[in-house]
Formats: sequence, C-alpha cells, structure tokens
Amino acid sequence: MFTLAHLSDPHLPLPPPRLGELINKRVTGYINWRHRRRFVHDAETLVKIVADLKAQAPDHIAVTGDIANIALEEEFVSGRKWLQELGSLHDVSFVPGNHDAYVRQAVRYAPQWAPYMSSDDGAAGFPYLRRRGKLALIGLSTAVATPLFMATGRLGEAQCARLGEILTTLEQEKRFRVVLIHHPPVSRAKRHKLLSDAAEFKRIIAAHGAELVLHGHDHLHMLNWLHGPNGSRVPAVGVPSASAAFGTTKNDAAYNLYAIDGAPEAWCCEMISRGTNFAGTIMQQRRLKLFG
Ligand SMILES: [Fe+2]
Ligand SMILES: [Fe+2]
Repeated sequence: MFTLAHLSDPHLPLPPPRLGELINKRVTGYINWRHRRRFVHDAETLVKIVADLKAQAPDHIAVTGDIANIALEEEFVSGRKWLQELGSLHDVSFVPGNHDAYVRQAVRYAPQWAPYMSSDDGAAGFPYLRRRGKLALIGLSTAVATPLFMATGRLGEAQCARLGEILTTLEQEKRFRVVLIHHPPVSRAKRHKLLSDAAEFKRIIAAHGAELVLHGHDHLHMLNWLHGPNGSRVPAVGVPSASAAFGTTKNDAAYNLYAIDGAPEAWCCEMISRGTNFAGTIMQQRRLKLFG
C-alpha cells in the first residue's frame, strides 16, 4: 500500500516588504494581507497540521500551491525552508499557485523551489513526472501573473499536449496516475478565480484518463468526478488551506491522506481527511472510499 498526503495553500506569514518591493499588484495584495488575510492564515495552525501529517508517516507529500502571498523574494526563502522541513526532495512534490506567481518578477525567485518541481531525471519545466512505487505524480503549473483583482490560472497549449502524452505512457506502464494542479478543473468560484482552459484539461482527462486529480486554490473540501475514457470517472479532490484559522473561513484547516493499493482495473483508493476542531487539535473528519 502507498500512502499519499495532500496539503495545499499554506500561505506562509508575509514578511515585511522591502522598500521598492511594493509595486504593481503587490500594493493591493499587501493591503489585503494586513486587513484580512493575516487573520485567516494562522502559522500555529499550519505547524499543527504539518506535525499531524508527519505523524501519519506518508510515503509521499503533495503540495498544490500558494505557499506565498504576494511573491516577495523573502517569501521564496521562507518557502524553501518550509518545504525542506516538510520532507526530502524525493518525498515532497510541489506545484505552484497564483500567489506564487503574483507578479511577473516572481519567476526570478522560482529556482528556490525548483528541486521540488522537477522530473526524476532532474529536468525542469511542466508537466514534471515523478515515479514512486506504483504511483506516478504529474505536476502541472497553472501559475501565471495576472492583472489586478484577477486570480485565474492557465495551463497553455504546450503543457496540455505534453500532459496527454505522459498520461498515455503511464497507462502503458500500469501506474496509478496522480495529477497535481493548483486551480480546480471544476469550481463554483467567481470567473476571476477560474482555470481559463479547464475545458481543455477535462478533455485530456476524458481522452487519456488518470486515477486521481488533486488541487487547491478554492480553500475548500471539494470532490468532483471528471469523465474518463470508456465511461470511467476520475475524482478531482480539493483541500482547504492548511493554515486556515479555525472559524474564519468556510472550511477550517485540513489535509487529506490517500491509501492506494491494488492494480490497474482494480485500484483501491481510500481518502481520510484530518483537520482542526474548535479546541485546536487535529482529528479525523471524514473517511471515504473513492474506488475499489
Ligand atoms: Fe490560496
Ligand atoms: Fe490560489
């Protein structure tokens, strides 16, 4: 059996910006953090979530984006430290979110996190591909710098084309295919927060299949079933922010654990959600057999 943990949207505490860093969209982002978001994302809650996750000793940890808030250089430094404390390069896979690409300048700092977003052969770029036991993790990037008040994501044609090829190869290898993506392929969020090429992503999944799609971004527990090939269904599962302070948002901080076993045509996959309660302790909240 393989245990995969999934957490998302930690939104680490925002360090004070340096003179000259508050440019463009970062100005409104910083005001938003000072007035609202710093009360929603709680560092202590995140520490508890990570400690509980580590105590479950998963075989691998998937992080689906938004470590940062306004993508300051210092956020990439603290993000690197946080990833290192979470686990080794071999055992942690990360895909970026819109807050990690908040402004175009953020790409300069991306090398800080690159080792957690590279393929097994060390190649950079998306999709990346990591094989772990029976599993294959395919990491996508929907993180693009967007105009003011926009939080959309985009895969783009090149990434979509490569995704289809990879899914087919992995099917031939009889792998359990886990797709990591920040923006949900199905969402009830407002238009300015959506994945702009979600229809293309769903078309690829319908044509080539996958066993599991994991996402963040909406900061909610979500489960949507996508069409797969030959009438099959593919679960797309989202988790709340791992740092959501209790009672401040619709869904409190949580993470998911997947117990994966079996073989092609007969995979078993059970999901357990663990999250905070009113007393600030982490406990099991839900157990759900996705298939098998
Ligand atoms: Fe987020
Ligand atoms: Fe996001």
